[in-house]
Amino acid sequence: MEILSATQLSKQFRSRGQTVEAVRDVSLRCASGEVVAFLGANGAGKTTTLKMLTGLIRPDRGEVSVCGGDPNRDARVLRHIGAVLEGNRNLYWKLTAQENLEYFGALRGMGRLEASRAAILWLGRLDLEGKRHTLVHKLSRGMQQKLAFAISVLHRPRLLLLDEPTLGLDVEATTALKGYVAEWAAEGNAVLLTTHQLDVAQELSSRVVIMRQGAILAEQSTAELIRQYSGQSYTVRFQGTLAEPQVALLAGLPVRLELRDDESLLLYFGAPDGLYAVLEALRPQPLISIEPTLADLSDIFVYLNRDGAPLPPAARYGPLPTSPVLNQEALHA
Ligand SMILES: Nc1ncnc2c1ncn2[C@@H]1O[C@H](COP(=O)(O)OP(=O)(O)OP(=O)(O)O)[C@@H](O)[C@H]1O
Ligand SMILES: [Mg+2]
Repeated sequence: MEILSATQLSKQFRSRGQTVEAVRDVSLRCASGEVVAFLGANGAGKTTTLKMLTGLIRPDRGEVSVCGGDPNRDARVLRHIGAVLEGNRNLYWKLTAQENLEYFGALRGMGRLEASRAAILWLGRLDLEGKRHTLVHKLSRGMQQKLAFAISVLHRPRLLLLDEPTLGLDVEATTALKGYVAEWAAEGNAVLLTTHQLDVAQELSSRVVIMRQGAILAEQSTAELIRQYSGQSYTVRFQGTLAEPQVALLAGLPVRLELRDDESLLLYFGAPDGLYAVLEALRPQPLISIEPTLADLSDIFVYLNRDGAPLPPAARYGPLPTSPVLNQEALHA
């Protein structure tokens, strides 16, 4: 069942005579049981999109539907949405941790007793019992982040929008939060998650949507994306530094260069026969090794996002339905 559907959202900001096209024709879906990782470099437009989904920013164009209603037009729809937006801003600094939970619970339609019980439950789950009566501005940054998450799930929303929810969390808290997010989706709710921690995205998400410069660059099932690239990636280690013409030649090939002080290597995505062109471009650098590599989401993200990246030849990635849905225009923007 579809919980979120957003169609062709667009948003421009104007400041000091300049116009920023923050979001261009972005369409998103999120169904019951899904965790969708919403990825993109800084400034790609993720937060702006999430704010349009929660009614915090009115889109210039496009439609949002959450459980059949539009949060930009009908405030009752907000009861179906829980959100952690840009860290801990959705907290009242002069209220205690428990008061914050109860306040926001009531705002989302919970009864007093119900909100109070849920508040105590979540304070316990997130290891914040000891801070129940502490004012929010006296909590550590990670504790505030945990509280923001508790507020987002307290009223049991059908759609959870999480903007970098693990920012500043320690290892244990990150693990706990990942568990709750997975559990939330497994219970039939939908989660849309932005993060720069791509290991978190890889572990949690069933689908990945990548934004670049305001538009959607790629959309694909996480497992399928990793499978496609993993079967066809190689690490090539070589000696010495590259001259400019070599770098220019490599820029036209499906590779990602990593030039470090101690070693130089590149990650090549493609069928084995494409390696000849890479080796030709590397000449006369002595080769150290060529190894098949298991690409992870982080490798794939950096690869897809690099400036002027050419698309990998479609034929090498199998028939179209299994290829990532790549938006040429966004890729070359
Ligand atoms: N209120 C605003 N006024 C003007 N420009 C804005 C405003 N909010 C966002 N922008 C611009 O819109 C673009 C997208 O910003 P957004 O915050 O959506 O990016 P993001 O993908 O969330 O990035 P990050 O990963 O850094 O959080 C940026 O160029 C940003 O400067
Ligand atoms: Mg952001």
